[in-house]
Amino acid sequence: MKEVAKLVIDGKELTLPLIEGSQGEKAIDIRSLRQETGYITFDPGLGNTGACRSSITYMDGEKGILRYRGVPIEQLAEHSTFVETAFLLITGQLPTRDELTRTSVYLNDFSPLHENMKAFYQNYPPKAHPMGILSAMVNAMRSFYPELLDIEEEMNKTYLRLISKIRTMAAMAYRISKGERVVYPRPDLCYCANFLNMMFDSVVIPYHVDKDLVKALNVFLILHADHEQNCSTTAVRVVGSGKVNIYSALSAGISALWGPLHGGANQAVVNMLERIHSEGLTVKECISKARDRNDPFRLMGFGHRVYKTYDPRAKIMKKMCDVILSKIRRKDPLLDIVQELEDAALNDSYFKEKNLYPNVDFYSGIVLRAMGIPTNMFTVMFAIGRLPGWIAQWKEDVADPEMRITRPRQIYSGNLKQDYIPIDDRG
Ligand code: SDX
Repeated sequence: MKEVAKLVIDGKELTLPLIEGSQGEKAIDIRSLRQETGYITFDPGLGNTGACRSSITYMDGEKGILRYRGVPIEQLAEHSTFVETAFLLITGQLPTRDELTRTSVYLNDFSPLHENMKAFYQNYPPKAHPMGILSAMVNAMRSFYPELLDIEEEMNKTYLRLISKIRTMAAMAYRISKGERVVYPRPDLCYCANFLNMMFDSVVIPYHVDKDLVKALNVFLILHADHEQNCSTTAVRVVGSGKVNIYSALSAGISALWGPLHGGANQAVVNMLERIHSEGLTVKECISKARDRNDPFRLMGFGHRVYKTYDPRAKIMKKMCDVILSKIRRKDPLLDIVQELEDAALNDSYFKEKNLYPNVDFYSGIVLRAMGIPTNMFTVMFAIGRLPGWIAQWKEDVADPEMRITRPRQIYSGNLKQDYIPIDDRG
């Protein structure tokens, strides 16, 4: 017999169907609730609410599991590349050699930016944050590349155009912000090598593409490629549910990711570490400030809505710190601080009781600093990585027959009915 949930409310018994996912996740299907009882559910932050069915990414927050289309991220980080992982997320399959070659050719063909887009950058205030520029530029792509056909082949090209150009846009934002000449993509370089070259090439010292840095960037982007229904992915799905074009839906995702509680945390972690370093705060003081609800200080890079154990991505990122710093033979004083903070927090009762562990952002800033990426570009790097995940989620949402325009309900807590008061009769 099919399992059901029974709800007794106002003396009536309501039977609600249960839904079970492929990994045994269970849900109560409440789609008939309001019609049957007049009641809605209440779940600010949606921490207990399933917004969709999805076959893209599986997370187990208690066991620290993360898989893309069933493939563990540990295996993808070790054996795959970001382009191959993007293909897996968007199509559901790992590419054949032929498919991967064709994808790489398209990514190269699509890598230059429309020349008129450069004028956009040049008219931005010089200190503009690159995330604001990126969100605007991705939205502007709708105007520069209007061929948004719903023919699958054309849409696949749109996905590849986005993945290729976001990298060029990011590097261009950095170069123009420094007043340096823009470096164009090179057809002889792979995705990550091209990005590093566009960021750091100079006529004085031509950039040497280091294979270990290319590998580290691939791993960084793979670890960020998708994370099921997080804040920015939900933004992409919600905005996309109104059937706006994909560029505008993705631009909303970039804006949502910018927040310091979300993708902006990698920049916030390094800002926190630099403050600790410059003010000479002790680890003990930091832990005590983080525990104090009256103190706005939070241990950035710690805690997660889903992971109640160590974020599996943070484990890989932490290992990368040692590899990359020993490669460039540079010590980073912030690494010592971050490791001491982790040790102290993991042994502190407050953090243990609240199941607060390092998340992907805790170590990622150290890795990016070691690659020479400036702090205000950290969240842009997160966006480059997350783009294939957003595209896969948008594509799944648009194709899902169960999905409708997202329009939640509310509990009204405002004024009861009152008449209009003419201005001369007001107090
Ligand atoms: C990302 O969702 C995703 O999948 C996101 C992401 C992805 O890949 O898309 O994984 C990427 O966004 C990672 C998270 C990056 N953010 C940070 O590192 C910012 C610091 N972390 C917190 O702000 C917080 O942990 C969140 C935002 C990550 C999660 O917030 P929740 O789930 O709403 O938890 P909460 O704020 O309700 O905290 C529960 C308790 C609270 O204490 P009480 O009110 O119960 O007394 O834990 C405390 C919080 O005060 N707490 C912290 C803390 N995080 C939570 N206390 C100190 N330091 C922290 N970092």
